[in-house]
Amino acid sequence: MSQFDYIKEIAKSGLENDQEKLLSVLNDFIEYSKKTKKINFALQLQSILKEATFVQKSNTLTKVGSDNYYNRIDEREVSDLILEKLTSDYSFSNLVASQDTKSQLELFVKEHEAHELLKKFDLPIANKLLLYGPSGCGKTLASYVIAGELKKMMVVVNLGAIVSSKLGETSKNLAKIFRKAASENCIIFIDEFDSLGKVRDYDQDHGEMKRVVNTILQLFDYLPQSSIVIAATNQKDMLDDALLRRFDLNVGFDLPDESQIRELIELTLKNDQFSFDKPQSLSSIIKSAIGLSFYSVQKTLVTAIKHSLFKHLSLKAVPMQTLIDTKIWKELIFKEKKSLSKK
Ligand SMILES: Nc1ncnc2c1ncn2[C@@H]1O[C@H](COP(=O)(O)OP(=O)(O)OP(=O)(O)O)[C@@H](O)[C@H]1O
Ligand SMILES: [Mg+2]
Repeated sequence: MSQFDYIKEIAKSGLENDQEKLLSVLNDFIEYSKKTKKINFALQLQSILKEATFVQKSNTLTKVGSDNYYNRIDEREVSDLILEKLTSDYSFSNLVASQDTKSQLELFVKEHEAHELLKKFDLPIANKLLLYGPSGCGKTLASYVIAGELKKMMVVVNLGAIVSSKLGETSKNLAKIFRKAASENCIIFIDEFDSLGKVRDYDQDHGEMKRVVNTILQLFDYLPQSSIVIAATNQKDMLDDALLRRFDLNVGFDLPDESQIRELIELTLKNDQFSFDKPQSLSSIIKSAIGLSFYSVQKTLVTAIKHSLFKHLSLKAVPMQTLIDTKIWKELIFKEKKSLSKK
């Protein structure tokens, strides 16, 4: 950057009231001035900055040059990639899945609960997990369950956003996220993992994307045993073998079968406030819902419950038990199937 560029940046961040950016550009400008032998000017600037930060410090703003200050710069750079940072109260009881899927996930959790024991016997701990399967069948939910069971924080990384935006910064920022997650002992959840594969179709800088894939491969290879990475995709076949091979465990999710739909209904109606007005027609409705995702089945059921509840709005007191209008639910399922088949 030239002197004029710095001045423009300073003007911009000043006018936009972006304190953090302003301080960061000013610091860079001081360094630049020193390097270009404008020592006096650099010292003057430095003392202006010192005075200002002294005032700011008493206003509890972050102090320039402190660890906090650098952490905040770091955070701003990676925040574009982090969708959210969360804790979870979910447990295995929230997830409906085949026995096989559940026991694979349970073993994964157990390995981390018993990591001390495994370490004693020098046994490796599976820490790279790929969740795959159609949309709305519990991949994201399963990651919440793992975070909840292990009582760990989870950082959700938005790979889709990375790939379509600031490609140039991605490798560096991914490395930062991995480092941060390792130091804070949290789980990294990478959603839309297939975006890495899709890139071949994009009209973008392939060299840069290759770097991103290589970065991921390296980060996976050097991942500390105590760290956990979970990736999710609904297009597993978009991922090439080099990526797939890195995972210790691939766990599949499927559309629900009849008994899983029943389980989902029970889970959704877990408190006894709701029951069906015509229980005898439930079996045929469940059959008609086959082909829909867990998400769609749950969504239509919840909507039917709301409709049924609103019927009582005219009553003064809401009854202890609300009967779910099975006819409405049936219609909603029909509509959902129809709208999905059009897509
Ligand atoms: N297997 C499941 N058991 C219980 N509830 C489920 C299940 N799958 C989905 N749901 C319900 O649907 C919601 C959405 O599911 P989820 O976000 O986990 O889907 P996904 O597989 O990650 O889909 P996508 O590929 O679109 O991201 C969940 O929050 C939950 O309410
Ligand atoms: Mg998801």
